[in-house]
Amino acid sequence: MDGTLKANLNENPFNPISELKDEFLRVLESIEINRYPDQSYRDLKSAIGKKFGLSYENIAVGNGSDELILYILLAFRSKGLPVVIPYPTFGMYEKTAFLLGMRVEKVYLDENWDLPIESLMKLVSKGAILFLGYPNNPTANCWPKEELRSIIEINPGITVVDEAYHEFSGKTMLDLIFERDNLIILRTFSKAFGMAGARVGYAISHKRIIERIDEVRLPFNLNLFSEKMALLMLEKDFWVKEKVAHIVENRDWLIENLKGLDFLKVYPSETNFILCKVLDERLDLLTFFKERNIEIRKPDIDGNYIRISVGKREEVERIWSLLKDLQEKLWLK
Ligand SMILES: Cc1ncc(COP(=O)(O)O)c(C=O)c1O
Repeated sequence: MDGTLKANLNENPFNPISELKDEFLRVLESIEINRYPDQSYRDLKSAIGKKFGLSYENIAVGNGSDELILYILLAFRSKGLPVVIPYPTFGMYEKTAFLLGMRVEKVYLDENWDLPIESLMKLVSKGAILFLGYPNNPTANCWPKEELRSIIEINPGITVVDEAYHEFSGKTMLDLIFERDNLIILRTFSKAFGMAGARVGYAISHKRIIERIDEVRLPFNLNLFSEKMALLMLEKDFWVKEKVAHIVENRDWLIENLKGLDFLKVYPSETNFILCKVLDERLDLLTFFKERNIEIRKPDIDGNYIRISVGKREEVERIWSLLKDLQEKLWLK
């Protein structure tokens, strides 16, 4: 570590390996690295399924949810449906669809990041592979559940609800899984579970959808370490809950403070990151932070916006203290 504060990729600031070292070491010692993983990933799928009262047949696992986005598009590409995404949203949906030569249609969110519900419903009523972040990245909000339900019901194609930040919002569309056979929920171990480096994501869906995803999946797409570490972390609910509570507390503390700054508009957040609009077009906060050894993100939104991932208390305090000093300097100008 070079002392850089990483507030750009919405990672968990806590490393479960250093905090649960003995247990991770025991898992490591039990791994037969000379063997291939079980290519059905039945143990991991069963353990995930059990969490939701579902069978392993309702679960697909991927090398991060990024890989599952690729598999979903590969599995349903032949239907010839357009890929519909809100704008702004997580970049991998468009990037992956583009790489596969699929047609992408964007629906623009309004200034409060709400969905243009009527035009979206009209668009998907003819069938689409629709991606919806719940909560959405980088806007950090959850759209009303009833709106999502109407969209999911009207789309005869496939709706993917990406719940990468679910543990921070506490919200889910999972209950609809039991009613619909064309809905996919995406989750990941990269955020609340603190395992971004292990690359484990999963999809929850109807058995028939999971079979289609499995048809395009590479046989050994998860390595043994990641599979076993995910299995261990699934038993560590207390660790996840404790860290999420801590991060949410820091997020709310930072949001309250940021609201006092003249040069930022701060948006509410149901995630582990905060989106702000920089009201002075000339203010380059990305460079400002970079020069002070802090990496934040310039999200893909037209205009001067920044996205700050929420970390440990001392980290959010460092960010706040720099912005407070900047405000004072701007006043003195
Ligand atoms: C909305 C959303 N989905 C998926 C991902 C990718 O997660 P993974 O690390 O599981 O590939 C991210 C990562 O930032 C994300 O923001």
